[in-house]
Amino acid sequence: MRILSGIQPSGNLHLGNYFAMMKRMIEYQENHELFCFLVNYHALTSVVDPALLREKTLEAATDFLALGLDPHKAIFWVQSDMPEVHELAWLLSNVTGMGLLERCHAYKDKVAKGLPANHGLFAYPVLMAADILICGANRVPVGKDQKQHVEVARDIAQRFNATYGETFVLPEADIEDELSTVPGTDGQKMSKSYGNIINIFADEQTLKQQVMSIKTDSTPVNEPKPIEGNVLFAIYSLFLDAAGKEELRQRFLTPGLKYGEVKKELLGVIWEYFAPYRAERARIAADKGYVIDMLKMGAGKARAVADEFLAKARCNTGLNYYE
Ligand code: TRP
Repeated sequence: MRILSGIQPSGNLHLGNYFAMMKRMIEYQENHELFCFLVNYHALTSVVDPALLREKTLEAATDFLALGLDPHKAIFWVQSDMPEVHELAWLLSNVTGMGLLERCHAYKDKVAKGLPANHGLFAYPVLMAADILICGANRVPVGKDQKQHVEVARDIAQRFNATYGETFVLPEADIEDELSTVPGTDGQKMSKSYGNIINIFADEQTLKQQVMSIKTDSTPVNEPKPIEGNVLFAIYSLFLDAAGKEELRQRFLTPGLKYGEVKKELLGVIWEYFAPYRAERARIAADKGYVIDMLKMGAGKARAVADEFLAKARCNTGLNYYE
C-alpha cells in the first residue's frame, strides 16, 4: 500500500495538523510505503513573503523529523524539489473540466475569506492531483476538508485513463472519522486562518494563552457539564484513550468541575505529551544542514518514482514524438 500526503508550510503546525495528518502519517511509516512532503508550491497561494516561506518550510520539516518521521523509512521531501509535478499538472489540466474545479468548496471558502481569486488558487486541486498521481499513491490521509480534493484527483485519474489508456492508480482519501475535524479554541475547525489554533511547539506562555482561550459555556460550577459540543472536552479527548475519555466524561458529568482548572490540567497534558519531541526538535533545529540533507535525499527518491509515472503519461499522450 502506497500512502501519500502533504501539508502546507504556511504557518506553525498545530494540533489540527498533528491529529488529522502528521501523527497518522508517522504511524504509517512502519508498515507502508510512505510519501510525505511539504507543499510549498501550494503555500504560494497564501504566503507572499519569501523569507517567511523559507523559514516555515524548514520549520515544518524540523517538526516532522522531531515528531518521529524517519527519512530513511519514509520518503520525505519538499514539493518544489520535484518540479516535474507541474508538467503532469498540465497534462491533467487538459482532462479536467471547469465545472469540476468550480464545485470545489475550498476554493470558494478561501475566496470568501479574502484570498485573491487567482489561477493558482483555482488550479490548486489539479496540482494536488498531480502530487498524488505522480507518485502512484493508493491512499491519502487528510482532514475532512481535503476529502473533496482527493475525490477530484480520482476523477481526473479516471478521466485520464479513459482518454489515454491505463496510466494512473486511482487514489482514495483516508479519513479517520472521529478525528476528521479537530476543533479549534472557538469550536470551529482548527485552522490558522481562523486564529483558533493550539500549536504543537509553542513556548509555554503562548501555549498557556492558547489553551486558556478555549471557549466554554456558562454552566454553573455545581451543575453537570454538557459533553456534546463541549470544545474543552473534545480537545482534551485527543490526548486520551477510551478509558481516559470515559473518566473525563464522568468528571464533566459530576457537579463541581471547574472549567478553569480543567484547562490548566490540559495545558500540563499537552506540554508533557510533546516534551520528548520538543527536546528532539531543539536538537534537530540546531543542525539545519541535516534537515536539508534529509529533504534532498527524499526528493531524489520521490523523483525516481515520479519519473516513471511521468514518462508513461508523456508517452500515452504522444509527447514522445521522437520514439
Ligand atoms: N491541499 C492539502 C492541504 O491544504 C495539501 C496537499 C497538497 C496535499 N498536495 C497534496 C495533501 C497531496 C495530500 C496529497 O491540506
